[in-house]
Amino acid sequence: MFITLEGPDGGGKSSQIGPLVEFLTRAGYRVLATREPGGTPIGDRVRQVLMDLGSAEMHPRTEILLFQSSRAQLVEQVIRPYLAAGGVVVCDRYADSTLAYQGYGQGESLATLRSLLDFATGGLKPDLTFLLDLDPEVGIARRKAGGGEWNRLDANTLAYHRRVRAGYQELARLEPARWVLVDASQPPDAVQSQLRRIALDRMRAQEPSRQA
Ligand code: TMP
Repeated sequence: MFITLEGPDGGGKSSQIGPLVEFLTRAGYRVLATREPGGTPIGDRVRQVLMDLGSAEMHPRTEILLFQSSRAQLVEQVIRPYLAAGGVVVCDRYADSTLAYQGYGQGESLATLRSLLDFATGGLKPDLTFLLDLDPEVGIARRKAGGGEWNRLDANTLAYHRRVRAGYQELARLEPARWVLVDASQPPDAVQSQLRRIALDRMRAQEPSRQA
């Protein structure tokens, strides 16, 4: 089972993933948490280039391709081997981030991006994707208040972040069997309970023998 967490910045994905993985591990699954961009030594170096406030002159196509190189490495070095060994992978962002940010946010052609994504992932799609949906104004305020790093990509305009959110909502509407929309403005514990319940239900549904 391959689970991804998606959504606008500040939706709390990174703080939700640890407790979710812990819960699923206690439920008896082998679970790996990873993130994008990054998740491998090569990907982490690509992440630094992408996030660096000094990379201001980066061309949008360069940015798109860097996201794909980090992703290709993560898929082949980490995700596929873990899934093949029967494990569960929970990933903080994946291919849908490229559609939401570079597609809906920046206006790059969705068809072009989809073919790049297919190449980068070798066709690997998540089984379940949570959209931690949040008003970008709230998300940006949370990011600023959180005291974490403020990176090059955070510096985009509010209008851009609004397009990203609307893009995510459309992606979720287009593939309702894969996406589950979660209201990320709820208290973190409420978000966590929802993630746990839905993930466990889906996993049990995939493995009927475990229900006995
Ligand atoms: P995060 O690790 O804090 O989620 O930051 C990753 C940033 O990179 C976030 O602003 C979303 C952005 N991003 C893209 O624009 N395209 C992508 O394909 C991915 C994976 C992330």
